[in-house]
Amino acid sequence: MCGIVGYAGSGSAKKMILSGLKSLEYRGYDSAGIALVRRGKLLVRKESGKLEALEAKVGSESFDASIGIGHTRWATHGAPTRENAHPHLSQDGRIAVVHNGIIENYMELKQDLIENHGVLFLSETDSEVIAQLIGLYYEGDLVAAIRRAVKELRGAYAIAAVCTEEPERIVAFRRDAPMIAALCEEGGLIASDIPALLKYTRDIYLIENGEIVVVTRDAVQIFDEEMTRMHRTRTHIAWDIAAAEKRGYEHFMMKEICEQPGVIRETLLQRLDDKGELALDDLAFTKAEIGAIEHVYIVACGTANHAGRVGKQLLERYAGIPVEVELSSEFRYRNPIVNGRTLVLCISQSGETSDTLEALREAKKRGARVLSIVNVEGSSVARESDFVFYTSAGPEIAVASTKAYTTQLVSLYLIALHFGRIRGTVTRAESGRLIQELKRAPEMIEAVIGKEAEIKAFAKKHYKKEKIYYVGRGSDVASAEEASLKLKEISYINSFAIAAGELKHGTIALITRDVLFFALATQSYLYDKMLSNIEEMKARQAQIIAVAKEGDMRIAEAADEVFFIPDCADEIAPIVEIVFFQLFAYHVAKLRGRDIDQPRNLAKSVTVE
Ligand code: M6R
Repeated sequence: MCGIVGYAGSGSAKKMILSGLKSLEYRGYDSAGIALVRRGKLLVRKESGKLEALEAKVGSESFDASIGIGHTRWATHGAPTRENAHPHLSQDGRIAVVHNGIIENYMELKQDLIENHGVLFLSETDSEVIAQLIGLYYEGDLVAAIRRAVKELRGAYAIAAVCTEEPERIVAFRRDAPMIAALCEEGGLIASDIPALLKYTRDIYLIENGEIVVVTRDAVQIFDEEMTRMHRTRTHIAWDIAAAEKRGYEHFMMKEICEQPGVIRETLLQRLDDKGELALDDLAFTKAEIGAIEHVYIVACGTANHAGRVGKQLLERYAGIPVEVELSSEFRYRNPIVNGRTLVLCISQSGETSDTLEALREAKKRGARVLSIVNVEGSSVARESDFVFYTSAGPEIAVASTKAYTTQLVSLYLIALHFGRIRGTVTRAESGRLIQELKRAPEMIEAVIGKEAEIKAFAKKHYKKEKIYYVGRGSDVASAEEASLKLKEISYINSFAIAAGELKHGTIALITRDVLFFALATQSYLYDKMLSNIEEMKARQAQIIAVAKEGDMRIAEAADEVFFIPDCADEIAPIVEIVFFQLFAYHVAKLRGRDIDQPRNLAKSVTVE
């Protein structure tokens, strides 16, 4: 979604803001803009397209000051044009505003501003309404004007504003969209996301919902909605800037694929004691609480939801608890049956996905306990959950999720085993066996990455195909869905995934000789069934690439081509096989000349509904 950066200090605001926005490019955007305050005037520049266009524009000008705000826009209301880019100005040109989120009642506010206050709008955005409202209420105090304006706004949003009459400060406000602030040697900073500030500091202030922040060159002051001063301690961010840089890789996605063995080792290391036994000290459930769980809802979107589908199989098998997996966007409006004995398990890399956050709130309102698996420390989902389990994936920058997914899977294994041990549904020996297998996962992933040349050859052979589908059974269905999503989002190829047993109930009608099917056959107990499905597809002239375990002699006869992952326990296969599919999608997208890290129309964290 949109990225926000603000700076008030003694250095070059242009430089600070542009470099902050650069670090947020991964969020996805289609236009960018900046507003600086200098000698009682606002200097505003905006461009559609990439940041380079804006940089080229302001680079040659003496356009600079020591205070300002900047923005990268991911279009929701109005096309990605220069006119619709932020910052937006109040009618009198004294106030500039940047905004992330959606104003749901902007139409009625806009109509009122036009009809009753003679305001002339210059853009099609919902955001301009905020600038005009603040302008309308401005009587010499930006904080007071913002407080009055936000009372009229409905939706989820974070805003930052500067005013020519108050050239020393930035005022910001958040409601259900992320916002952080920091003080560093160069001055005060405000941003929508942590990577924007990492170059300057790793100690940040997390801004809570409904809070107003005033940033100057030497202070960050936080107030609640009644203007009571809040005393916030700073949160230290464990990642450094190096973790958020490409470090020689051509794309963040490739870097993040290759980081998987390391981050999985890290996630495991933190949760196993010296004897290699589970030690989930950070999971602050009592034994009684775990024993009392009667039902689990796993709630998540996109890739995180696919992790949840694998998690369902694990929790049911090892902890003996019935589990339903839901899309957050459905759960939040579905009137789910939830009570004090329900555990809602939210999974979110960013911890800021609006649908997941709202689902979490709905669950809590209905009395459920909420456990979240989150990657970003201090994110909204983490803060609002009863229990948090952090994945140690480090910053994930590429829009296509890779290392967050595999660490979410590892987290789900650990949670399922922990619950199972406490509930008495898994023996120490069984849990020990699985932990040993999990410990081998990093080296198995290394082996898959080591076969990159082979994967590249598959990509080269098939990248021009327009239909690539994925089938599997058991947890291979979740892997198939994740594999298909990876391919779709970065290569734009028409793709879907389906449970193999469902093929003959309709979808088989789509099979022609130009269709490529990936058949995932890693689940031993379903292997013969999967072979029959492969035969069915072959009989209808589909081309088939099977993914199977090393040593499988029968599959080579059935499929046209095979990719072998290392021989591993069925339960571990989802963590290993997905790396093949990540690399396949990557190379196909590269051969097709796609923007791999920032695919069209997508944003890294979806903070709007
Ligand atoms: O930050 P979250 O895990 O809550 O994000 C959920 C989805 O938006 C995300 O997984 C999305 O599907 C990715 N682009 C997939 O690669």
